[in-house]
Amino acid sequence: MKTAKWFFCASLLTVASHLGAQTATIEAKVDALLEKMTVEEKLGQLTQFTAAPTDLKEQIAQGRVGSVFNFGGSVNTNELQRIAVEKSRLGIPLLFGHDVIHGYRTIFPNPLAIAATWDPGSAERSARIAAIEARAAGIRWTFAPMIDIARDPRWGRIAEGAGEDPFLGSAFARAYVRGFQGSDLSAGDSLMACAKHYVAYGASEAGRDYNTTDLSERTLREIYLPPFKAAVEANVGSMMTGFNALNGIPATANPWLVEGILRKEWGFDGFIVSDYQAVEQLIPHGVAATKEEAARKALSSGIDMNMVDGAYALLADDVRAGRFPVAVVDRAVRRVLRAKFQLGLFDVPYVEADGEDRLFLLPEHRAAAREVAEKSVVLLRNEGGLLPLSKEIATIALIGPFIEDGGEMLGSWHAAGRPEDVTTTIARAIRDEVSPETTVLLAQGTGLLEGPDSEIERAVATARLADVVVAFLGEGGKMSGEARSRVSLAMQGRQEELLKAVVATGKPVVLVVKSGRPLAIEWAAENVPAIVYGWFLGTEAGPALANVLFGDVNPSGKLPVTIPRSVGQIPIYYNHLRTGRPATENQYTSKYIDSPNEPLWPFGYGLSYTQFAYSDLAVSSPTIEPDGSITVSALLANRGDVQGEEVVQLYLADPVASVSRPVRELKGFKRVALAAGESRRVEFTITPDMLRFWNEGSWVVEPGQFLVWVGPDSQKGLEGTFELRGPAR
Ligand code: BGC
Repeated sequence: MKTAKWFFCASLLTVASHLGAQTATIEAKVDALLEKMTVEEKLGQLTQFTAAPTDLKEQIAQGRVGSVFNFGGSVNTNELQRIAVEKSRLGIPLLFGHDVIHGYRTIFPNPLAIAATWDPGSAERSARIAAIEARAAGIRWTFAPMIDIARDPRWGRIAEGAGEDPFLGSAFARAYVRGFQGSDLSAGDSLMACAKHYVAYGASEAGRDYNTTDLSERTLREIYLPPFKAAVEANVGSMMTGFNALNGIPATANPWLVEGILRKEWGFDGFIVSDYQAVEQLIPHGVAATKEEAARKALSSGIDMNMVDGAYALLADDVRAGRFPVAVVDRAVRRVLRAKFQLGLFDVPYVEADGEDRLFLLPEHRAAAREVAEKSVVLLRNEGGLLPLSKEIATIALIGPFIEDGGEMLGSWHAAGRPEDVTTTIARAIRDEVSPETTVLLAQGTGLLEGPDSEIERAVATARLADVVVAFLGEGGKMSGEARSRVSLAMQGRQEELLKAVVATGKPVVLVVKSGRPLAIEWAAENVPAIVYGWFLGTEAGPALANVLFGDVNPSGKLPVTIPRSVGQIPIYYNHLRTGRPATENQYTSKYIDSPNEPLWPFGYGLSYTQFAYSDLAVSSPTIEPDGSITVSALLANRGDVQGEEVVQLYLADPVASVSRPVRELKGFKRVALAAGESRRVEFTITPDMLRFWNEGSWVVEPGQFLVWVGPDSQKGLEGTFELRGPAR
């Protein structure tokens, strides 16, 4: 045993000293290159373009470009790389970036849908496969994960993140970084990740993209920063700053955020890229008068690479004349070159020509995309157990604009994903699923945006012929994502009208909501017996949905975000602060006169085809010592007659503190699979650091009484209490 221990320690030491030596070698190589570089070449390494500039190749040959993005494909990347490596004076390879957000060629569900799995392993797996495929196309760096917390579904980019909660968001941030980067950045199947958009971009006022944000430091620290901290702890290689200003200071020129928090407090040593033209946008932001001034501000605030607008190149004269410190330029160049060495780009700058054919859309990639899609589906309503449907049903009608449209399954930012890869559309998948005797009728009923009355009438007539109707309705794939803010969260065009007409036939209707974001579907929530949130599930959307609808897969997704009743309730999120007048019957309490406060469905909510019951909450001790821990557990039973998976959630609350604390905060979750009739005790550990909050410039933990819930969502659960010991407040 002793020998084994000794061997283990010796191996660790060898690995550590090997890593140390590697780092030293990289630093020496960076130094040597920096010595040789002209000012233009240095600023070139900090300059990133898309394929747009007509003289791109010339600029690459002159060493004026460090990175090119959204220009994947082995032929394209190899061609440009050859110019950088063979024609430029110093032969520094280009770094190819791409928005590989939820898959490269095999498309996974949109990230908000993946967050609905509450399974970080699914995110990691999707990122791993995306990395393998993107690498085959010559890409070495992805602008993902997008880890902006978003509490406002009007903001279209809510579809790209993990939802409203910092604890869940941090778990997904770590998982994506691990999945993209693997354990070695230079491995043949790794992509460098880029956590974005630092920070609070998701809080854009009025849900309008690119708008300003204004937050207390407490909200920033407790809600918006944690996923970024988690990404840093997972060794993310790079970060992208947001388009937004935070409390009046644009994130592209915010030394407090970048140099202060990110670098000094957290020790982040990767490089930082601006967002698209965000450096020159410091002019319309009103903090720079000229493009040169914008460049000076951004670079000295710690933004190492300049995306698209070429502003940094304008600093050459200032640097040569000593008007802008060369040390600031060198610092940024060093970070970029270091990343290029870490990625092994100097050793292997090119990509093999046949990788795309060998690695795209492999059966195992499709299988993973399908499994993740199945786990992403959230069952929201199932009156009378309408779902799952029988495969022996005589006649089924499929309604809505999505049923035969493969491209619409991909959602926004689908990289190299192609509509024709979605070979099994919803209609085909359901035909494959049901018995040969079943008649499957199709009627679009309306286009996404419009359609004539006659189409609605035809859909109604089709519904009348069926035993059950499944309506796939919502908003198009391009309706969420960047620059897709909405003031309405209704289904697009005439789809709700179509739904009402179909429900009026009296036939049992299942609604599958297709959307990247929460839609406020109050009428449907009250009038449609079965509702499934079906997101944009990617290349394998059809089979995944069919498997859930017909019970091959028991749905287990939970909402990573609150679904409001109406736009008027926004912002609405479960972990809100308290009010002095919580809503009661009394009129003069915090409520609306024309709507309930409650959302349609709360954060964490999701049903199953089986019934899970929670009982017997046990708190291991009524008190936690300041350096101690306790466990909280509950008995989970599968009371139904099918196997199922439940995401058991742990929430805490601090009812009396020196500042008003949220009504609840998620602090743990576990996915538990139980056979029919099976029970299991599910346990969580609580430590004092889970009770901390930000107050007057630091994290504090205050002793006192706390509440704990273990349950199925953010509104229900078994409640217990415990006390944290310590000096009195
Ligand atoms: C988006 C980023 C994206 C970049 C490059 C910007 O408009 O905000 O998220 O990575 O474009 O495509």
